[in-house]
Amino acid sequence: MSDNLLEIRSLSKALPAGPRQSAAMVLRDISLDIARGEFVAIVGPSGSGKSTLLYCMAGLEPPTEGTVTLLGQDLSGLGRKSAARLRRDHVGFIFQSYNLIPSLSAWENVALPAPLAHRSAGQSQIDAALAAVGLTEQAQQKPSTLSGGQQQRAAIARVLAMRPDVVFADEPTGALDAEAGAQVLDLLRTAATDDSSVVMVTHDLQAAARADRVLVLRDGAIHRELHHPSADEVFEAVTTPATRAV
Ligand SMILES: Nc1ncnc2c1ncn2[C@@H]1O[C@H](COP(=O)(O)OP(=O)(O)OP(=O)(O)O)[C@@H](O)[C@H]1O
Ligand SMILES: [Mg+2]
Repeated sequence: MSDNLLEIRSLSKALPAGPRQSAAMVLRDISLDIARGEFVAIVGPSGSGKSTLLYCMAGLEPPTEGTVTLLGQDLSGLGRKSAARLRRDHVGFIFQSYNLIPSLSAWENVALPAPLAHRSAGQSQIDAALAAVGLTEQAQQKPSTLSGGQQQRAAIARVLAMRPDVVFADEPTGALDAEAGAQVLDLLRTAATDDSSVVMVTHDLQAAARADRVLVLRDGAIHRELHHPSADEVFEAVTTPATRAV
């Protein structure tokens, strides 16, 4: 088996034509690999297709053309149930809006996914996940009594407690102040280990510069790809006009 956790080949995504508009291409002919252990950031202007690409990578949106191979499995060849099982057992998602269950405590939110995946998560594993994100003291609090940064850290603990092979994060620091955002970023940085990868969509170019690789999307295509860039290099790549030679 290849070392790639994810392989995308010639992926395109069209939105269906409406009564007043022709079909629009949201993603155009994207091919890329994500290796095990990589921390990859996706940046680009609003509407450039970042979230759509992330959802296609995770098997939440089907591509119009092309293939997505996750952990050696071609997602288009899997039935809905098998795809859902693959996601449940190997994939974690972190959203800008946290998606915690309001009626449950932080501890109960973190404990929730394991039984759904028919896995046992010992009390100590849940405690350890909350300790890793610095929420031991807040374990019994409901989400409404936590700050935004604490809620996002609880959402990350919920994902990391499941030890996924890949974490997809869509604007995980988008609703946070600089300090809380930096804590969340540190957690994601350490979540990319030898075995696990992290793919993060972000508007924050400083955050993107923490990644091993940065993909710059423009009009649904990969405009630039940077390895271990500085924040200035990411800024330059995002702002360089598509028509100018680089
Ligand atoms: N279900 C949908 N129906 C109609 N248009 C959609 C749908 N999903 C995405 N789009 C369009 O596809 C394009 C890309 O959207 P996407 O959400 O992937 O962009 P993005 O780069 O994540 O933007 P942002 O930074 O604002 O989150 C946009 O023009 C958007 O309006
Ligand atoms: Mg988006």
